[in-house]
Amino acid sequence: MRISVYGAGYVGLVSAVCLAKLGHHVICADINEDKIKLLASGECPIFEEQLPDLLNEQLKTGHLQFSSDISYAIGQTTIHVIATGTPGNPDGSADLTQVFAVASQIAHETNSNCLLITKSTVPVGTGDQLEALVQTILNNSKKSYRVDVVSNPEFLREGSAVHDFLNADRIIIGGEPETLKPLHLMYQPLVDNGISLLTMSRKSAELAKYTANAMLACKISFINQISRIAEEVGADIDEIRLGIGSDGRIGPHFLRAGIGYGGSCFPKDGRALAQTARTLGIETNLLDAIDAINDQQKNWVVEQLNKHFNHQLKNITVGIWGLAFKPDTDDMREASSLVIIKALIKAGSKLRLYDPVAMSAARNVLPEDKLITWCKSAGHVCEEGIDALVIATEWQQFKNYPLSLLVKNLAGAPLIDGRNCFSLTKAKDANLTYYSVGRPKILSTERKVHDAG
Ligand code: UDX
Repeated sequence: MRISVYGAGYVGLVSAVCLAKLGHHVICADINEDKIKLLASGECPIFEEQLPDLLNEQLKTGHLQFSSDISYAIGQTTIHVIATGTPGNPDGSADLTQVFAVASQIAHETNSNCLLITKSTVPVGTGDQLEALVQTILNNSKKSYRVDVVSNPEFLREGSAVHDFLNADRIIIGGEPETLKPLHLMYQPLVDNGISLLTMSRKSAELAKYTANAMLACKISFINQISRIAEEVGADIDEIRLGIGSDGRIGPHFLRAGIGYGGSCFPKDGRALAQTARTLGIETNLLDAIDAINDQQKNWVVEQLNKHFNHQLKNITVGIWGLAFKPDTDDMREASSLVIIKALIKAGSKLRLYDPVAMSAARNVLPEDKLITWCKSAGHVCEEGIDALVIATEWQQFKNYPLSLLVKNLAGAPLIDGRNCFSLTKAKDANLTYYSVGRPKILSTERKVHDAG
């Protein structure tokens, strides 16, 4: 099939490359000329496992093309996948400007019947609005083409997006059965591999996407709230997770307590769903609580530091391991590290920061500040006698860091582990002063006497 994908962001780029891998001829179009030039030369602008190799492989086969000429992409096919961004508006609703702009250009320029597939995350009812917009444009230009609009949300995780596309738990397509036929063909190679293709109404498909994200975010905020109770009473949230996760009705996934979720989807999509509900006059208590608990959880690190240092954070030196919102990505959007860093700068602490891949992304979003030292490695963070070390992202290299070396470097300074990277037994055996989420605190027998000077 010949397919045009509009938007070379996370979703568009991964979808385009993977659709080419499935054997389709794909044009990925984006108005950002620099990005398109980079991609056409085989350079991948985002940090994403497997993507650079697959991008170059598909460029070589000739199945994949990049263009900054949207009209060219429109003219090459009748299957149009819209994968542009839907950033959050100040009131939480999704900004659909880019989605509408692409749809209206297609309606203006199409010379045949065609199909619009929305892959961007759009509020329920957007398909109806797109259909009305397109029809108005066709009527005004006295064109009698038929333009169908269907929904095909994505469920890709950053860091494993290629894997998730090619090994999806399910594919959802929403629209009238007749209009969905091309999508059955498009995904046939994945269906042949045993992946289920679920067909439903367009509105159900649109809402299913938000529901999946809200459910996952709900699980995280739920376990984080329980972790507060566990911490207070001396229970262990990881044992509790095992205890409940083995119940088939609950399942073990997305129940890791930590310092809150971030990224480009959960926070933004949760707020957009709540905003949709509010406009329908529906109470949003649960959706609001998921968001509020997440915000509170991002303060957990600073709360522990305040307890440990008796609210005297000025002039102490805090090392932070991990800046990205999660491992295996350089994405800093809504990262918990940002909340910690901003609070510590406000308190006058000196910071030594390190992330294996997100250093330049972090420098782009954090203001230059004399309190910040950008470090070269995890070990470099701990040099020069830090007063506390924080883990904000659970990169494998931190989990593998030799505890004997860490204990030596920390010399009794506390490790505030926001992602529960180490077992309590290991931390105790290593003689660490160790604070972790929802688990009993461990105190080293060699506590450092704090002198911030
Ligand atoms: C998510 C969805 O998983 C994906 O289906 C959707 O398309 C986009 O949003 P992503 O944002 O890439 O993907 O990250 P994900 O791996 O889902 O993690 C989201 C956040 O939740 C991270 O900040 C992570 O640290 C946190 N998390 C995840 C927890 O705190 N605990 C968990 O048990 C799982």
